[in-house]
Amino acid sequence: MSKVAEAEQRRLQAQERLDAQKDAAARNRAGQFATPPSLAVEIARFAWERWQERADPVCFLDPAIGTGSFYSALRQAFPAGRIAAAAGIELDPRFVETAKSLWGTHGLEVTEADFTTQEPPAARERCNLILTNPPYVRHHHIGREEKLRLQRAVARRLGIKVSGLAGLYCYFLLLADFWLAEGGLAVWLIPSEFMDVNYGQAVKRYLTEHVKLLHIHRYCPADVQFADALVSSAVVVFEKSQPPPRHTALFTHGGTLLEPRIRQTIPLATLRKARKWTNYPRASVEVPGPNGDAITLGDLFTIKRGLATGANDFFIRPREEVDSWQIPTDFVKPILPSPRRLAEEIIEAGPDGYPVLAEVLCLIDCARPEQELSQRYPLFWRYLQTGKERAIHEGYLASRRSPWYAQEKRAPAPFLCTYMGRAQNGRKPFRFLWNQSRALASNLYLLLYPKAHLQAALHADPRLYRAVLLALQQIDTAAFIREGRVYGGGLYKMEPKELARLSADPLVEAIGGWRKGRQGRLFADV
Ligand SMILES: C[S@@+](CC[C@H](N)C(=O)[O-])C[C@H]1O[C@@H](n2cnc3c(N)ncnc32)[C@H](O)[C@@H]1O
Repeated sequence: MSKVAEAEQRRLQAQERLDAQKDAAARNRAGQFATPPSLAVEIARFAWERWQERADPVCFLDPAIGTGSFYSALRQAFPAGRIAAAAGIELDPRFVETAKSLWGTHGLEVTEADFTTQEPPAARERCNLILTNPPYVRHHHIGREEKLRLQRAVARRLGIKVSGLAGLYCYFLLLADFWLAEGGLAVWLIPSEFMDVNYGQAVKRYLTEHVKLLHIHRYCPADVQFADALVSSAVVVFEKSQPPPRHTALFTHGGTLLEPRIRQTIPLATLRKARKWTNYPRASVEVPGPNGDAITLGDLFTIKRGLATGANDFFIRPREEVDSWQIPTDFVKPILPSPRRLAEEIIEAGPDGYPVLAEVLCLIDCARPEQELSQRYPLFWRYLQTGKERAIHEGYLASRRSPWYAQEKRAPAPFLCTYMGRAQNGRKPFRFLWNQSRALASNLYLLLYPKAHLQAALHADPRLYRAVLLALQQIDTAAFIREGRVYGGGLYKMEPKELARLSADPLVEAIGGWRKGRQGRLFADV
């Protein structure tokens, strides 16, 4: 076994030991999720493929070195003779000590420091190869002062304003600009979230205006890279140089970095304007709507998130329990259980409008003052006191309502979409439901209210309800994946605005009768 392979064996043991010293939550706060060795080696091999065209020796830097997975990978992928210098920075003294003892004799210089507070080196001392997996510390775990300091540092050096919602990895990537020599290559393993969310804007601006973006590979979210970090990962590759005019970057998805499943080159000019970068590479071409412009679900439905009560286990109770507290029927409304408990896609209504389900739940929603309740409905009032004993009235949502047990106003929606789900075993990540009952829905659902003309068409011919449900169910999984947000483990979430952007083509197709002749009416308010 080579000396590097031996050191790597010891590194894996040390990593396991160090990881076991903190639970996942503590590691999350500190951004300590080690890169799986196979992934680090894949990234280093990828870098070597590019490096072979170059004549200059490698000066390597990992600003979040951990136990040195990327240095180990570098040593495995690059011939030793091509590596002139290597440095790592690490905040946690336990990792510093381990990295020093494992790799010190192999040429890695490790500094114990907070990378973001370090003065960048002079231009001639900068590195020309960064391979790293920076800490993915969410913004909630970065203190206010710390955030301001980071924001100022980026603004001062790059003139880029970073949103307060950005995670630590964004600052790492931006601040590392001053550590990389002109012409240097950087390969960052980071969460793919920045590609879609608003806080990612600063990174996207950097990648399209300050450096030459070469390649972004996204791993398939069902195939989580960091099982315990719950993020889906992207590898972002760029060179520190001015992009030539009409420059294009390669976007790939699925498979591996070296052998991706799908690929597409995207002009930088397109990326500068694009809101969602995870739309690339495109798996399928979008079909335009009947008038050339795509008709979207937002054209046909007003879409809202379901009710947030602030304490579902207090405000949503089984019907028998509500009866046992003698809560008057005027103060309760039927509400659907979690989608997991709904076997059918069509929710039928009983004679009283309540859903016909094994488990019938009620939402407590009352606008009368407590004084009145204590006199007229003492048992109901007593129930409310049990909530007060649990400080439910002081919760974030309840304390902002008056009285605290009155809910937001939402009408029952005839169509619902689940708010989150997994795309597993060929199943679509989201389910659509047709709600025939008066039941409301919690924020585990998105509510689809037909807009005026669709509502009129449904009213004129109630058979259309079923056609609409079937058409919604036909929406292509790829379309959901393009618009929704992807979390680790193949978990998708869909916000109302994202659902509204989905093409309504299957719906328009399905409602054939309305498409011809009556289409003018159906889409008159589009
Ligand atoms: C995602 S881990 C990656 C570790 C290692 N490079 C790997 O790939 O396995 C990020 C590392 O950054 C370290 N870290 C967190 N904040 C840091 C900071 N401000 N400066 C330097 N290192 C930091 C963590 O302790 C952790 O070891």
